[in-house]
Amino acid sequence: MELAGKHIVLGLTGGIACYKSAELCRLLVKAGATVQVVMTEAAEQFITPVTMQALSGRAVYTSQWDGREPNNMPHINLSREADAMLIAPCSADFIARLVQGRADELLSLMCLARPVERVPLLLAPAMNREMWAHPATQRNLAQVAADGAVVLGVGRGDQACGETGDGRMLEPAELLADLVAFFQPKVLAGRRVVVTAGPTFEALDPIRGITNHSSGKMGFAIARAAREAGAEVVVVAGPVSLATPRGVRRVDVKSARDMLAATQAEVPAADIFIATAAVADWRPLTQADQKIKKDGSGDAPTVAFTENPDILLTVAQSDRARSGALFCVGFAAESHDLVAHATAKRARKGIPLLVGNIGPLTFGQDDNQMLLVDAQGVQELPRASKTECARLLVREIARRLPGGIAT
Ligand code: CTP
Repeated sequence: MELAGKHIVLGLTGGIACYKSAELCRLLVKAGATVQVVMTEAAEQFITPVTMQALSGRAVYTSQWDGREPNNMPHINLSREADAMLIAPCSADFIARLVQGRADELLSLMCLARPVERVPLLLAPAMNREMWAHPATQRNLAQVAADGAVVLGVGRGDQACGETGDGRMLEPAELLADLVAFFQPKVLAGRRVVVTAGPTFEALDPIRGITNHSSGKMGFAIARAAREAGAEVVVVAGPVSLATPRGVRRVDVKSARDMLAATQAEVPAADIFIATAAVADWRPLTQADQKIKKDGSGDAPTVAFTENPDILLTVAQSDRARSGALFCVGFAAESHDLVAHATAKRARKGIPLLVGNIGPLTFGQDDNQMLLVDAQGVQELPRASKTECARLLVREIARRLPGGIAT
């Protein structure tokens, strides 16, 4: 329920992407928002108010002369109560109307009449690629952004007209993610974050290897939360089957040594490094070029192991980390004596902040309980979903940064 308590005005303007707005409306409602749909006359050519009323559970408004409002001022009443107005799809014509401050139909009138400091306006453009690329559209987009609107991106691909290019409306799930992110405090604006996540896979031969049960969920949730908080984020991911959070750059790796190399390539440009990966402590000393076959003797092969590099320790010992330019955060998954082990681990790794959790209570689960260990001592955070834990952690990290934002 990521939009619980939020009231969203969902505006539809004329475009074939209106069919996606039905799904968007459902997703917003499922996420806990109340949704007031407002449609232009052109939007009604593509989808009916009946569909949108059924999905939003509220009567749809299409006219500034709607007599259902006792004072006959739907443009005032509907815009005042919104936490945000999202125009999806937002046509080229509607953007041009916003630029001019037109007010001759309900939706543009509401955009003009809304209290700008209190009711943000988000636009999800949708149009043919030539219309999108036209200097008039690009000029208008720059102007509406300068006037305070948040212009969300567009998708690229096949268009309803048969052409291929930029200008598709973002998918409903992407728009939901962008709206949820919009409401998050931007405590990491301008910061660059690198997160390691998931297990590593240490090959024994081309077929087999050793790994662990880490799902990568916590690391991916942290990458997402950091992105939502305004950071530029790279996730260095071991083999996991998770979707990349929106706006996050992903580097896929397999072994601990690959993860170290990828991490070392990314951290010189970073302000924050968060090591959530469950890196295999050891790898087979040798990796066979061909599948190791049974030799018929009944004897199992002996596998010698060697220790993997400690990625967190290596990064924490770098000059940038030591000077405080790179803030390092480690995780400790323990089975018992969490406080003692986590405190000792923080000291051993030489990092400012360590997050402790009980392994079996977090691996593969959707929620988690974190213990923060820093130079001041130990702080227990409440048990919450991994998404919520990640947001809490991001705020705790932001608070500890040089020049960090008080949260
Ligand atoms: N870590 C790492 N590289 C490794 C091992 C661990 O970057 N080769 C990081 C993990 O991502 C985590 C932290 O170090 O942030 C703690 O990892 P953990 O495996 O719990 O601790 P260890 O240092 O391996 O200590 P122990 O085995 O004694 O629990």
